[in-house]
Amino acid sequence: MTFSTATAIAHPNIALIKYWGNRDDEIRLPQNGSISFNLEELTTRTMVTFDSSLPRDIFDLNSTRQSGAPLERVSRHLNLIRGIRGFSTPAHIMSETNFSAGTGLASSAAAFAALTLAAVRAAGIEMPEKDLSRLARRGSGSAARSIPAGFVEWYRGTNDNESFAASIAPPEHWHLADCIAIVDEKPKVTGSSEGHQLARTSPIQSARVIDTERRLELCRLAIEERDFDALAAIVELDSNLLHAVTMTSNPAVFYWQPATLDIMRAVTTWRKTGIPCCFSVDAGPNVHVICESSASEVVTAKLNAIPGVHTVLKCHPGGGVQLI
Ligand code: DP6
Repeated sequence: MTFSTATAIAHPNIALIKYWGNRDDEIRLPQNGSISFNLEELTTRTMVTFDSSLPRDIFDLNSTRQSGAPLERVSRHLNLIRGIRGFSTPAHIMSETNFSAGTGLASSAAAFAALTLAAVRAAGIEMPEKDLSRLARRGSGSAARSIPAGFVEWYRGTNDNESFAASIAPPEHWHLADCIAIVDEKPKVTGSSEGHQLARTSPIQSARVIDTERRLELCRLAIEERDFDALAAIVELDSNLLHAVTMTSNPAVFYWQPATLDIMRAVTTWRKTGIPCCFSVDAGPNVHVICESSASEVVTAKLNAIPGVHTVLKCHPGGGVQLI
């Protein structure tokens, strides 16, 4: 191979039942299954060009040349794909996101979903969605869920072959919105890869993991029946369980900031007054306020009025990874 290129576009996703902790950190076999939906309005577009005239891999993210850990992580992922075809040609990776600047939402899910599809196709490989998802999982666990469209479940599985994500409902199945309240634009201090490793040091993690099948079932049912109250109860419990684990890991990690808690409290109060909304917080201080789409304007206005909220991004359930 001398020169071949492909471009793919992917969306990040918000986990309703979250991935936290691996059984195998190397190949990212998760401790528990998870459920998410893709966020249509946020995108990562990645072009991969295998070019035999390059001395080594080059990675540009939002027009800034990358080195060190980010470049190594991308190169390692490309090595998996080069290994499938048995070549070692370096690549130029050019990635653009429409959400990183000033949001604090650096999404490895969208990044590795787009990188996987673009690299696989640039390498001339045809692959079913299941295998793309397994491969994306190796780059970043949550990236497995950004491969299929809409509402997605990532099956825990017991080995590499069984741990992949599949769509459980198309994006149009339920008109939800995710109003993301940004309270801090800075990248988080403890990244999720490190957090996954710390999870096993928390005495709460095993209880969280054992209870996951029950939460997954309740979440699947709530989605199937479009039952917002049922969804809200399980989503908030699952988010709180993740943070209970991070706060009781060794060392303890506190992702919340004061404004995070203010928003969480406000959201539960709004729900009591009849607004269909609930909160979910990932490994950072920003709050995903998931609501019925019809409530997204009132939710956005209320969020903007809370001190400490810098901006609110409104997203809807979105499609899977695509070649462009
Ligand atoms: C809190 O997929 O970002 O967002 O596999 O190390 O890249 P790596 O971790 P990542 O972890 C996501 C953690 C989470 C919950 C979730 O999305 O399920």
